[in-house]
Amino acid sequence: MFRRRHDPSKEQVLEALRDVQDPELHKSIVDLDMVREITIGDGRVVVDALLTISGCPLRETIVASIKEKVRGLPGVEQVEVNLGVMSPDQRQALVQRLRGGEMHPAKIPAFLTADSPTRVIAVASGKGGVGKSTVTANLAVALAIAGRRVGVIDADVYGFSIPRMLGVTGQPTAIDQMLIPLERDGIRVMSMGFLLPDESEAVVWRGPMLHKALVTFITEVHWGDDLEYLFIDLPPGTGDVSLTIAQTLPHASMLIVTTPQPAASSVAQRAAKMAEKVNMEVVGVIENMSGFTPVPGGPTIDVFGRGGGLRLAEQLGVPLLGEVPIDLAVREGSDVGEPVVKAHPNSPAARILREAARRLVELVPIGVRA
Ligand SMILES: Nc1ncnc2c1ncn2[C@@H]1O[C@H](COP(=O)(O)OP(=O)(O)OP(=O)(O)O)[C@@H](O)[C@H]1O
Ligand SMILES: [Mg+2]
Repeated sequence: MFRRRHDPSKEQVLEALRDVQDPELHKSIVDLDMVREITIGDGRVVVDALLTISGCPLRETIVASIKEKVRGLPGVEQVEVNLGVMSPDQRQALVQRLRGGEMHPAKIPAFLTADSPTRVIAVASGKGGVGKSTVTANLAVALAIAGRRVGVIDADVYGFSIPRMLGVTGQPTAIDQMLIPLERDGIRVMSMGFLLPDESEAVVWRGPMLHKALVTFITEVHWGDDLEYLFIDLPPGTGDVSLTIAQTLPHASMLIVTTPQPAASSVAQRAAKMAEKVNMEVVGVIENMSGFTPVPGGPTIDVFGRGGGLRLAEQLGVPLLGEVPIDLAVREGSDVGEPVVKAHPNSPAARILREAARRLVELVPIGVRA
């Protein structure tokens, strides 16, 4: 091709391509070294780019955004995109680059080291079934709606419920040893539920394998350097999983969910004790299932008693971030993958959860560590 006077330069095209992100990896295709060749002439630009895997489900998106960006340059009349596939060596180099160059000695990816801005919040309870996953899903959605970049690790390997609650299905893409989280509404999600052939499948693993699965979810998943909040939905009870998190993520904070009755909050205190033992800071308490108001504006029935969340918060010396009422819309939202903060943003439960998310951000601001 013959380069005309008003054709853009290679540098200009490359600069424009800097704005094209790989939709899964959240990084510029230029920084990922995916652009291999640029040919310019007669108002026509040909971009040769390499995808990580041949079956890349988002290839159309990449092609479209390359075309859009290059077409925006003066003098460009036509854009052609040729996509190839990386060789194993090129992929390996990319995975290294994604991990931030060298691995941290403790096998922590760069984004989770002490100077990374990402804040990790493990959501725990003493008892099962108090609404940890529901609260996690809603906080994640509330923050994503507020423009935060959010990830969720479903650490409940046996009883995973995050995929259903957030309405995320599918299989994560693997680039060599690195898993790309699935995404919905901008929330990056990883769950054992994505790795099993069907949802009813049982995982029969022992402790060490659970530990390994969780470490894999933390270290071998490309959460992205730009991630601001990473929630970890813990399985019921205390113990091993908290220990794994504390070891792998020394800067994680814990949020405790409890129901209002005294028995529940004293069990929840065990979760706090566990956090203390492993040096994890408890940042707050959320009380869930705090009364039921069958008729809006009418009397409230304290189905599960009263005041347990506040008592626990006082005992721990941390703020109570909210008392979330029992609301059919909360349960339905969880069942159909539309958390209440998204499906019924004006309901009392949604308001309280959104306010809790706002206070959480205040307590655990990104980029700042106590
Ligand atoms: N505020 C609420 N109002 C109505 N239903 C709720 C509320 N919070 C949670 N639920 C429902 O209660 C059930 C248990 O909630 P969830 O699965 O979030 O609890 P969990 O603590 O994560 O449980 P597990 O310990 O098994 O992981 C779910 O069916 C959920 O939809
Ligand atoms: Mg759960």
